[in-house]
Amino acid sequence: MGAAVQRAAHQVLEGGRLFSDPLALRILGPAGEAAVRAAGLDPAKGRLRLFIALRSRFAEDALGQCFEQGVRQLVVLGAGLDTYAYRNPLGERLRMFEVDHPSTQAWKRERLAAAGIPIPGNLTYVPVDFEREALADGLVRCGFDPGQASFFSWLGVVPYLTEEAIFSTLGCIASLPGGARVVFDYGNPAVSPGPDPWAADREALAQRVASVGESLRSHFETHDLHARLTALGLRVVEDLGPALMRERFLGAREDALPDRGGHILLAIASR
Ligand SMILES: C[S@@+](CC[C@H](N)C(=O)[O-])C[C@H]1O[C@@H](n2cnc3c(N)ncnc32)[C@H](O)[C@@H]1O
Repeated sequence: MGAAVQRAAHQVLEGGRLFSDPLALRILGPAGEAAVRAAGLDPAKGRLRLFIALRSRFAEDALGQCFEQGVRQLVVLGAGLDTYAYRNPLGERLRMFEVDHPSTQAWKRERLAAAGIPIPGNLTYVPVDFEREALADGLVRCGFDPGQASFFSWLGVVPYLTEEAIFSTLGCIASLPGGARVVFDYGNPAVSPGPDPWAADREALAQRVASVGESLRSHFETHDLHARLTALGLRVVEDLGPALMRERFLGAREDALPDRGGHILLAIASR
């Protein structure tokens, strides 16, 4: 709900300037407008809102490029209230799978029904708890074709998982015989003492999510993470931290800013 409110707030407060999602407000239901208003009143949420909008924009841009290169399967991992499948501009040639924790997925389906958002025929729901079941087992059980090239979008989930769950999921993606691309976001660990202008924001987020029972569990130094991806057979194509994201999407160069904080990354299985 937290991420979905920020996407809706971006539509209302910034007109969807960086990421357009016409369903973002609707999927929230009757409580949505009040939640968006509250988000707008909290100046500390501005950077988080931007990050959440941009990680979706990055993922959807990358998916569009991969579709042009022939990828026809999309897997949205830890989909939450992501609305891509319900406004998919690529049409029926894209087979879509939403993987999520069974309880979140059941809740989303109630929200979709309440909002009158139809479920497209080319979407399959795959209930999986990443801490308990291997991703491949869940996908194959639901008709995913491991022999076809696939695109995995995994937004806002990695920080909440154990390293074991993260790397077993990435290992599964890397070993798919049809080849795969994956986009996911992660955070660098706080440096102390050091040049971390967003330490206070990050501490506030950590406390907020811990208070609702979803603690942040994993952070990575960028070079360590890249080395671990390489060892799994995943080649990093792009990795944007805060400074590079601002440069790419806002056209704002701020050399003084360290590229530490929230990152969004695209990797391709290099086999
Ligand atoms: C912060 S939300 C992000 C949702 C969505 N990707 C977005 O950007 O709005 C985290 C998501 O991770 C999922 N998640 C957390 N732990 C999980 C687990 N162990 N197995 C499966 N999904 C999990 C939650 O169900 C939720 O959908």
